[in-house]
Amino acid sequence: MLIKIAKSWEIPEIEATPEHLFLNRRALLAGAGAIGGALALPSLAAAEDPSAGLYPAKRNEAYKLDRAVTPEKVNANYNNFYEFGMSKNIVDGAAALKTRPWSVKIDGLCNAPQEIAIDDLIKRMQIEERLYRHRCVEAWSMSIPWTGFPLSKIVALADPKPEAKYLRFETFKDPKVAPGQRQVWYPWPYAEGVTVEEAKNDLAFMVTGAYGKPLLNQFGAPIRLALPWKYGFKSIKSIVRISFVAEQPKSYWEQLQSSEYGFWANVNPKVPHPRWSQATEEVIGTGNRVPTQLYNGYAEQVAGLYKDMPQDRALFF
Ligand code: MTE
Repeated sequence: MLIKIAKSWEIPEIEATPEHLFLNRRALLAGAGAIGGALALPSLAAAEDPSAGLYPAKRNEAYKLDRAVTPEKVNANYNNFYEFGMSKNIVDGAAALKTRPWSVKIDGLCNAPQEIAIDDLIKRMQIEERLYRHRCVEAWSMSIPWTGFPLSKIVALADPKPEAKYLRFETFKDPKVAPGQRQVWYPWPYAEGVTVEEAKNDLAFMVTGAYGKPLLNQFGAPIRLALPWKYGFKSIKSIVRISFVAEQPKSYWEQLQSSEYGFWANVNPKVPHPRWSQATEEVIGTGNRVPTQLYNGYAEQVAGLYKDMPQDRALFF
């Protein structure tokens, strides 16, 4: 069991959670029935997943880590998935999400709009494993063996029109299975966005599996994003729709609190969050705190995306 003993340098959850969300936490937990959930790897047995035979996928050795992979048991019991509760322990709640049948709609300003069943998509894209760092805006981090395919393959499949400047992603919306979505004053469904250029960067990864098997529900099954140079909230889970759009999309967090959670959200240890420092991060499961790196250590791959932009706080929030 992951027992978190607060150290003097740790951020109490109340400081790392937007206040209005924190104040509603109790109501949400009550609604979710999520109090005291069990520590477990999830109910959806990976073997039942129709794509299970494609795992483990070959590792792409170009993506290496400077630290140990976070143990699966630790990662699988420490998740942000607000559709299922405000705590990190959403594993039981997320088990209710049915991930088959599931399809992803690709639409908007593109020449090949389509809706693809998840298993057809996974078979069509050659999946590979990559070791990525994951840095949450709450100043903690993990390291994960994700399996999936580059987001650039979705861009190629959709064939965007020249007017398309951004991709907008949307999570499922089903308040019957996701108690958090019964809180109607939040801007559900969860949404996120990137520029077309960011989407074409090789690091941007559509994730369908982790730890050598299909994604567990709490990780955002059956398909999520991983943008390791950005704060974790950009890495949207359980995606049902990807739209090519001309205007910068407003994300879920931007709608809630734009002064704290902006569109770009690139990791920068020198730009503090308005309520806490981003200089260091707690490496979950280790008890260690380490310095945070610019672009979460991926500057070489992504800094060029932003070289002509004002390097002000907005780029990092
Ligand atoms: N996507 C959806 N749909 N709902 C969420 O609550 N949380 C985000 C992101 N994607 C979230 C989401 C946040 S704040 C983080 S840090 C990561 O997912 C957490 O991913 P993990 O649980 O795999 O660590």
